Amino acid sequence: MAQLDTLDIIVLAVLLLGTIAYFTKGTYWAVYGDPYGNSLANSNGAAKAGKSRNIIEKMEEADKNCVVFYGSQTGTAEDYASRLAKEGHSRFGLNTLVADLEDYDYENLDKFPDDKLAVFVLATYGEGEPTDNAVEFYEFFGSEDVSFSEGGSADDSPLSNLKYVAFGLGNNTYEHYNSMVRNVDKYLTKLGATRLGAAGEGDDGAGTMEEDFLAWKEPMWTAVSEALGLEEREAVYEPVFEITEKPEMNAEDDTVYLGEPNKNHLEGSQKGPFNANNPFIAPIAESTELFTDKTRNCLHMEISIAGSNLSYTTGDHIAIWPTNAGKEVDRFLNVLGLSEKRHTVVTVKGLDPTAKVPFPSPTTYDAAVRYHIEICAPVSRQFVSTLAQFSPSEDIKTEMVKLGSDKDYFHEKVIDRNLNVSQLLEILSNGKPWTSIPFSLMIEGLVKIQPRYYSISSSSYVQKDKIAITAVVESIEKPGAPHVVKGVTTNYLLALKQKQHGEPHPDPHGLNYAIVGPRNKYDGIHVPVHVRHSNFKLPSDPSKPIIMVGPGTGVAPFRAFVQERAAQAKAGQNVGKTVLFFGCRNRNHDFLYVKEWDAYKDALGDNFIMHTAFSREGPNKVYVQHKIEEYAEELNKLLEQKAYFYVCGDAANMAREVNSLLAKIISKHRNVSETKGEEIVKAMRASNQYQEDVWS
Ligand SMILES: Cc1cc2nc3c(=O)[nH]c(=O)nc-3n(C[C@H](O)[C@H](O)[C@H](O)COP(=O)(O)OP(=O)(O)OC[C@H]3O[C@@H](n4cnc5c(N)ncnc54)[C@H](O)[C@@H]3O)c2cc1C
Ligand SMILES: NC(=O)c1ccc[n+]([C@@H]2O[C@H](COP(=O)([O-])OP(=O)(O)OC[C@H]3O[C@@H](n4cnc5c(N)ncnc54)[C@H](OP(=O)(O)O)[C@@H]3O)[C@@H](O)[C@H]2O)c1
Ligand SMILES: Cc1cc2nc3c(=O)[nH]c(=O)nc-3n(C[C@H](O)[C@H](O)[C@H](O)COP(=O)(O)O)c2cc1C
Repeated sequence: MAQLDTLDIIVLAVLLLGTIAYFTKGTYWAVYGDPYGNSLANSNGAAKAGKSRNIIEKMEEADKNCVVFYGSQTGTAEDYASRLAKEGHSRFGLNTLVADLEDYDYENLDKFPDDKLAVFVLATYGEGEPTDNAVEFYEFFGSEDVSFSEGGSADDSPLSNLKYVAFGLGNNTYEHYNSMVRNVDKYLTKLGATRLGAAGEGDDGAGTMEEDFLAWKEPMWTAVSEALGLEEREAVYEPVFEITEKPEMNAEDDTVYLGEPNKNHLEGSQKGPFNANNPFIAPIAESTELFTDKTRNCLHMEISIAGSNLSYTTGDHIAIWPTNAGKEVDRFLNVLGLSEKRHTVVTVKGLDPTAKVPFPSPTTYDAAVRYHIEICAPVSRQFVSTLAQFSPSEDIKTEMVKLGSDKDYFHEKVIDRNLNVSQLLEILSNGKPWTSIPFSLMIEGLVKIQPRYYSISSSSYVQKDKIAITAVVESIEKPGAPHVVKGVTTNYLLALKQKQHGEPHPDPHGLNYAIVGPRNKYDGIHVPVHVRHSNFKLPSDPSKPIIMVGPGTGVAPFRAFVQERAAQAKAGQNVGKTVLFFGCRNRNHDFLYVKEWDAYKDALGDNFIMHTAFSREGPNKVYVQHKIEEYAEELNKLLEQKAYFYVCGDAANMAREVNSLLAKIISKHRNVSETKGEEIVKAMRASNQYQEDVWS
């Protein structure tokens, strides 16, 4: 055989790498780009793969003088960013662009023109962390040696041209309240940028997010218009999207999206990598009811990820992509007068090249509403104001204007009655359709439907191809409210469970979910999912002791932890003390996984200790905190042996109370002041000895 020279080897290596890359495309390496394949959305939107990541260039190209950046996990900050962009345009004539923080680079912000404006709308997550799409942005500004295109260091005020405004979304029940906006504001001012108006902070914990936002933005607009010399004009509604009905097309045409999330799904061949833009349509392997109490439901589901290339490790989250209930889809379409046209094919196109179409088209009104728009959430006061001009009569318009402008009245008539947008419109017009509302306005004014996260309740060590979830079915009745709020996703899961169990009418509460999905693609029974990795992790050394606190569904990840440690013990590994504090209402009604704990005890022996608190069995409430106090001395000893401490479940009350109780216990049993106890707990958090997986 002829000898290979160096050039031959290089050529062969390049060919080999190219071939590997081609055949593993989408499997081992991500193909980022537009999640909607070659839908109309492709011609719109912010920076896409191959497009410029230079925001200044982008603004110049599109003739924009204001960019509204958002850092959002579940869509609220994104929604606020769109609202600010629209308002800036309609009231002040700003040419605005909404930008996902992850689509751009920030080294050239030192060249940001001084007659333009940057807006930052930033949600905070976890231990005061950025949202997934803001990680790189935050790392860039937070770095010690941040440097910009012109080479200036922090001391040279490199951002002295940049004028900005900032609003943060947070929840005061978390320790690091609104730390994203606070820190970003600090970094920007330190770099010489000028903030216009105050930095706003919205508080989800107090339930005042929307009102905080509304209260912040008026003085902000005053400051912006003064600084940029803008004149306020009468706001006129201008649609962002062009909706074109296509009578020549049929809903069954194979180019029409009937709820498929992107082109691969439309073409029937789902392809990885599966992620927040591209769900895996996963088979539900098993589903069971965990409560014996017939008035509430809690589902255990086993979701197969075999063959998907998705992976998880114990402590991660799975996201479920919901479908809206048919009952609410019908209401929404009726209210808009679109029932008859629900299966008409439409295209949705941004009227401005920078407008991001939130779902693929051509589609139908039915599919857009059922699969892509968050129609059941509480309606916002600002949106009610905007909708007023499209009222079907003058009387209704007067009422809408009042609701939109009077905060207390809105609270009494809308918030206190848990109304979503179509419930409100239906009540106000007595069922008469609001035919003047442009469909574009509904797409602009409502949030894109959001996947819901669940703490995985299985161990990847025990079952790497099957993910378990433990989900309590949401149902909220309120005196004076005309409807019961039925959680979108959990009632969908309940319907899927009923179908799997062969119930003749898998239709909880008449919600009428489209269980088989678009073109029957979810039949058999499937649900769209993706996995989100978390930092909520067992110690890598199983001999380390752990203490877990998880009342109600907060026990979900701890079932996984205990399952893992029991399997490790069975496999002969040295497993340390495993202490679980669990609480529920009544041991006979909602004791989750009651039959499993004994089996784990058999495997772990005396190393597994479970303390239970039942809140509704006797005259007094017994909570996990009471049990923690009862066993405080042992707990403190374990913590001194560097036990890991975990809390999961309700962020608003339980997790906070456990945090302060622990500080008190440490203070008492180590004979130090309460302040010192608090400092020790803080240090435990900083070193990951104390970990939380909480939601509210
Ligand atoms: C990291 C993380 C982990 C989680 N893990 C779990 C878990 O393991 N198990 C679990 O059960 N849950 C878990 N959750 C909660 C879960 O993600 C969902 O929020 C929950 O299941 C409700 O979803 P849903 O779609 O059924 O309800 P939604 O429709 O989203 O409603 C949720 C709540 O919003 C409010 N709401 C909705 N519509 C209205 C309205 N019109 N008016 C007024 N209020 C309204 C109500 O309070 C309602 O309960 C977790 C959340 C996070 C962030
Ligand atoms: N946002 C969401 O979508 C969502 C979804 C699921 C759960 N959650 C939250 O997660 C928590 C668990 O929900 P769940 O339905 O699984 O359980 P749950 O049945 O509401 O509560 C579990 C146990 O915790 C007790 N409890 C109530 N307040 C407590 C406190 N301050 N400290 C300690 N224990 C307390 C309850 O007692 P009593 O009820 O008898 O007082 C009950 O015994 C709830 O707080 C719920 O709000 C939120
Ligand atoms: C799991 C989780 C963690 C959170 N962590 C924090 C936090 O550390 N600090 C804070 O101020 N808010 C925190 N929040 C509140 C969010 O910032 C708030 O709900 C915000 O409205 C979410 O915006 P988004 O929908 O754009 O993602 C948290 C919310 C969740 C669900």
